[in-house]
Amino acid sequence: MNSFAATTVAHPNIALIKYWGNLDDEWNIPANSSLSMTLGKLWTQVRLVADQQLDRDLLRIDGAIASPEAQARVSQFLDQIRRLSGKAFFCRIESSSNFPRGSGIASSAAAFAALALAAARVFGLSTEPQELSRLARLGSGSACRSIFGGFVEWIGGQDHRSSYAVPIAPPQHWELVDCVAVVSTAHKAVSSRAGHRLAKTSPLQPCRVQSAPQRLEACRRAILERDFELLTQVVELDSNLMHSVMMTSQPPLFYWQAETLGIMELVRQWRSEGAAVCYTIDAGPNVHVLTLADQAERVREKLSQINGVQTVIVAPVGEGASFVEG
Ligand code: PMV
Repeated sequence: MNSFAATTVAHPNIALIKYWGNLDDEWNIPANSSLSMTLGKLWTQVRLVADQQLDRDLLRIDGAIASPEAQARVSQFLDQIRRLSGKAFFCRIESSSNFPRGSGIASSAAAFAALALAAARVFGLSTEPQELSRLARLGSGSACRSIFGGFVEWIGGQDHRSSYAVPIAPPQHWELVDCVAVVSTAHKAVSSRAGHRLAKTSPLQPCRVQSAPQRLEACRRAILERDFELLTQVVELDSNLMHSVMMTSQPPLFYWQAETLGIMELVRQWRSEGAAVCYTIDAGPNVHVLTLADQAERVREKLSQINGVQTVIVAPVGEGASFVEG
């Protein structure tokens, strides 16, 4: 055994060009490439300890024994690690985060990015970033992007080898801030894992997938040229398209609530008054409002005054996954 334990930290990310639907559900090979911003200040720390006495994996989240579903998901991920490494031992996994689960911030992305890094160390697999990105993808597709900091593209690919993320600009490149208006912390009724499987039942999915490369190209350009206007156009369009697919799946998925639509409307209004703001929404009702660092405090204040907004989480651009010493 290379090492018996590892402690790592990783950050969630918000997709600017969304991943929704797979070519291959087992390996999380996405229907389209996507692009995200890693979120700083929010983190998930994972400690993984290999224990030859155990006869199964044991997961604790924020100090408490995890639900059977969460245990099974992590164990399935570690099964793949065991297969790839040829090592058969089980592990104790402790995960803790500084942001609430179910707050509209994909906790699985940060958790599986941190877990992939820890597992690679403990099971003696490569810790080369591209390889880690492939591993993290097996736990949760979007986790492959959280291996890297800054602005990150997930090259969709066709199979396990060709599907991984690459950084396109470092965190310092552009001072964007994500202000997440939390309108509900209830656990989502349909997980993104189940949602990916439904995507192909929407007649709109082929159109979304076919036009995704153009939006990704425009989004990449907006980031590289720090063009907030172009970013706004492409990010809102892409989010609206993903939700159109969700709403037209069989059965349909409606993640938005009345408050969600109200905030979208206000964001458009603030923009018409001169603010640099745009929205994007993941598989839940909470609204991610992107803005520039010098406007973030004002945006946070305005969002927190809206009826129905429980809290506003503010995150700048963050770093990639890393080891924690000790
Ligand atoms: O990685 P998953 O399976 O949790 O899916 C993420 C799906 C979205 O958050 C809605 C979009 C994305 O690209 O992150």
